[in-house]
Amino acid sequence: MVKIKVDLKDRGYDVIVGTDTLPELGALIEADKLGREIFIITDPLVNDLYGDILRKGLKQRAKTVEVARGEQQKNLKIAAKLFDELVKFGAHRDSLIIGLGGGVIGDLAGFIAATYMRGINYIQVPTTLLAQVDAAIGGKTGVNHPKCKNLIGCFYQPKAVFIDVKTLSTLPARELRTGLAEVVKYGVIEDADFFKFLEANAHHLNTKAFEEEETKRAALKLWQTIVVESVKVKAKVVEKDEKEAGLRMILNYGHTVGHVIESLTRYRAYNHGEAVAIGMVVAAMIAQRMGMLDKEIVIRIKGLLEKLGLPTEIDNLPAKKIIAALSIDKKVSAGKVNFVLPTKLGSVDVRNNVPASIIKQSLVELGAK
Ligand code: NAD
Ligand code: GLY
Repeated sequence: MVKIKVDLKDRGYDVIVGTDTLPELGALIEADKLGREIFIITDPLVNDLYGDILRKGLKQRAKTVEVARGEQQKNLKIAAKLFDELVKFGAHRDSLIIGLGGGVIGDLAGFIAATYMRGINYIQVPTTLLAQVDAAIGGKTGVNHPKCKNLIGCFYQPKAVFIDVKTLSTLPARELRTGLAEVVKYGVIEDADFFKFLEANAHHLNTKAFEEEETKRAALKLWQTIVVESVKVKAKVVEKDEKEAGLRMILNYGHTVGHVIESLTRYRAYNHGEAVAIGMVVAAMIAQRMGMLDKEIVIRIKGLLEKLGLPTEIDNLPAKKIIAALSIDKKVSAGKVNFVLPTKLGSVDVRNNVPASIIKQSLVELGAK
C-alpha cells in the first residue's frame, strides 16, 4: 500500500492506494477510531460488486443505503432521504459515513457528512478511475441544482481516502477513459515525466488487460502507479490552495470549453472526461495561437488523448454557440473567461485575456462549424 498525505494541518489526511485492499479498511477505522458506527452510502451495482467485501472487514455496527445510479441522483431530494435514514439509524456525532462508489456517490456522501449534525467524519472509497484520481480528493462536496451542476455544496475534507485499484477491473471501458482524461490533465499541468510515462504505456491503458489472468496482475500494477502519481499531483495542488482561491484553478485545464460542450450537448453526447479531452486540445491550440506553446506539444497532447480512445474533435457544434455559452459558465470571474493554458509539458498559466477570434479559430480547426 502507498500512502500519500494531503497536508492540510488539522484537516489533513492520507490517501491510501493499494490493490486488493478493501477488506483492510475496517482495521484502519478501528485503529484510528474514526467512527463508533458506520453508515455506508453506495449504489446498487457497486454494492453488489464490493459491498460485502468491504462490510466483512468492519467490526462496528453498520448500515448500507443504496442510491440509484446516475448523475441525476445527486440532488437535494436524495440528500433529504439520506438524512432520514441517518436519523433512523441513530447516527450521531461520532458515527462515520463511508462513500463507496464513483464521483456521484462521493460528492453526495461528502455533502451529507459535511451537513449532518454540522459535520461528522467520512471516508471516501472511490471505485471509478475518475473518483480515485480526482473527485475523492480535495474535499469538494455537493449536489446539483436543476439549473446548475454542483451549485450547492461546501469544502469538507474526508478523514481518509481508501483506494483499492482492483475495483477498476470491473469498470466499463468508457468509464475508464473518462478518468484517463483527468490523468492526462495531471501530466500536462504539473508533471512532464508522468505525461511521457503515459505516452509510453498508452497501449496498455484499456480494459483488455483485465480479461486474462496473466495480464491482469501487470495491469493492476500499472494502474496503481497511475493512480498514485495522479493523486500526488492533486494532493499537492489542494495543499497549496484548499478552497480554490487561485492555484487550484489549474485543475480546470480543459474544463472551460469541456463544461460548455457537455452542457450544450445536454450531457448526452459526451461524458465528462470526453468533453474535457476536447477542451484540453482546444486550450492547447489557444496557447499555441497566443505564442505560449510549441505546436509539437499540441500534437503530443492530442495524440496521447487519441491513443487512449478519447475524442479530440468537435462534431456538429457551432463555434459561435460555444463562445456565447463560455461567458455564462462558472469559470468566469469579473466578466472574463478564465482559460488554463499550457506553456510546456508540466506547466500552465491562467489567462483571462484570450481574444474571441483566437477561441473561434481554435474551435473551427477542431471541427466546430
Ligand atoms: P459515477 O459516479 O456516475 O460512476 C459511473 C458509473 O460507474 C456508475 O453508474 C457506477 O455505478 C459505476 N461504477 C462505479 N464503480 C464501479 C466499478 N468499480 N465497476 C463497475 N462500475 C462501477 O461517475 P464518475 O465519473 O465516477 O463521477 C462523476 C461525478 O463526479 C460527477 O457528479 C462530478 O461532478 C463529480 N466530480 C467531483 C469532483 C470533486 O472534486 N468533488 C471532481 C470531479 C468530478
Ligand atoms: N476537480 C477539480 C477540483 O477538485 O478542484
